[in-house]
Amino acid sequence: MKIDFAGQVVAVTGAGHGFGRAIAQGFAAMGARVFGCDLSAEELAGTAAAAPEAISTDAFDLTAPGAARAWIARVEEKAGKAIDVLVCNAGGVRGQVNRPLEEVPEADWHAIFDINLHAAFNLTAAAAPGMKQAGRGRIVTISSGAGLQRSLTGIQAYCSAKHGLVGLTKQLAFELGPFGIGVNSVAPGFVPSNPASIAQFESYGPEGQKRLVEGIALRRLGTAEDIANAVFFLASAQAGFINGQILSVDGGR
Ligand SMILES: NC(=O)c1ccc[n+]([C@@H]2O[C@H](COP(=O)([O-])OP(=O)(O)OC[C@H]3O[C@@H](n4cnc5c(N)ncnc54)[C@H](O)[C@@H]3O)[C@@H](O)[C@H]2O)c1
Repeated sequence: MKIDFAGQVVAVTGAGHGFGRAIAQGFAAMGARVFGCDLSAEELAGTAAAAPEAISTDAFDLTAPGAARAWIARVEEKAGKAIDVLVCNAGGVRGQVNRPLEEVPEADWHAIFDINLHAAFNLTAAAAPGMKQAGRGRIVTISSGAGLQRSLTGIQAYCSAKHGLVGLTKQLAFELGPFGIGVNSVAPGFVPSNPASIAQFESYGPEGQKRLVEGIALRRLGTAEDIANAVFFLASAQAGFINGQILSVDGGR
C-alpha cells in the first residue's frame, strides 16, 4: 500500500509545533500542497522550512471571532480549489493545570472549548461547502484519550471539550458522508511533545514516569510521528470506506 497525496490540498491547524508540524511536513513529503496555520509565524516558518515549495503558512488565532472561517476561505483562495483534506489539530490545555472545579474561572473553561471544540466546528462548517461541491473530502480531527475517558491532565474543560470533539466527529461523519466526505478522529495517548505535556511528564518523577510507561501495552511513549502516521492513513484513499471512527493511537492501554 503506497499512500500518496499528489496534487491534493491539505489544511492543517496548529501546524507550527508538535503533531501539527509532523502532520504538515509528512503530507508535503507525500506530494500534497499544504496550508498550515498557528499562532506563531516564527514556529510556522520552522515547519515550512522542511519543504518551502509545498508548505504555505498563515499566523491566525483560530479562536478570534470569524478567524477560523476566514482562514479556510484564505486557503481555498490561495489553492484555487476546495480543500481535499482538513486536519483539525490545534488544541491543548492553553497553559492551564489541574485545579479543583470550584477554582476554575469561567473564562478558562471557555478558552479550552474555544480552541479544542468551537474552532473545529467553525473550520469544518467553512470547509464543507467546497468539499460538497467537489463531491469528496477527508476531515480528521485530533481528539484525545481524554475524549473517551477521564483526562490524565485532570482538567475538566479539556476532557469535556475533547468528548465534544468526538461527538462532533461522529455527527459530521453521518451528515457529510452522503456527499463523499469522510470524517474521522485520531485519539492520541500521552505524548510529551509540547510544553504542557513535557511539564506534566516531568512532574511525575522517575517512579511515576515508569508507572505511566508500564501502563502502556507497548511499553513506550508515543511520538508526533506515531500520531501523524494515523492521520495520513485516515486521510488517504485507502481509508476511503472508513467513516465516523475514533482511532486510539496510544500503544494500548
Ligand atoms: N501531546 C499529547 O499528549 C496529546 C494527547 C492527546 C491529544 N493531544 C492533542 O493533539 C493536538 C496537538 O497537540 P500537541 O501535543 O502537538 O501540542 P502543541 O502545543 O505542540 O500543538 C498545538 C498547536 O496548536 C496551536 N494553537 C493553540 N491555540 C491556537 C489558536 N487559538 N489558534 C491557532 N493555533 C493554536 C499551538 O500554538 C500549537 O502549535 C491538540 O489538539 C492536543 O489537544 C495531544
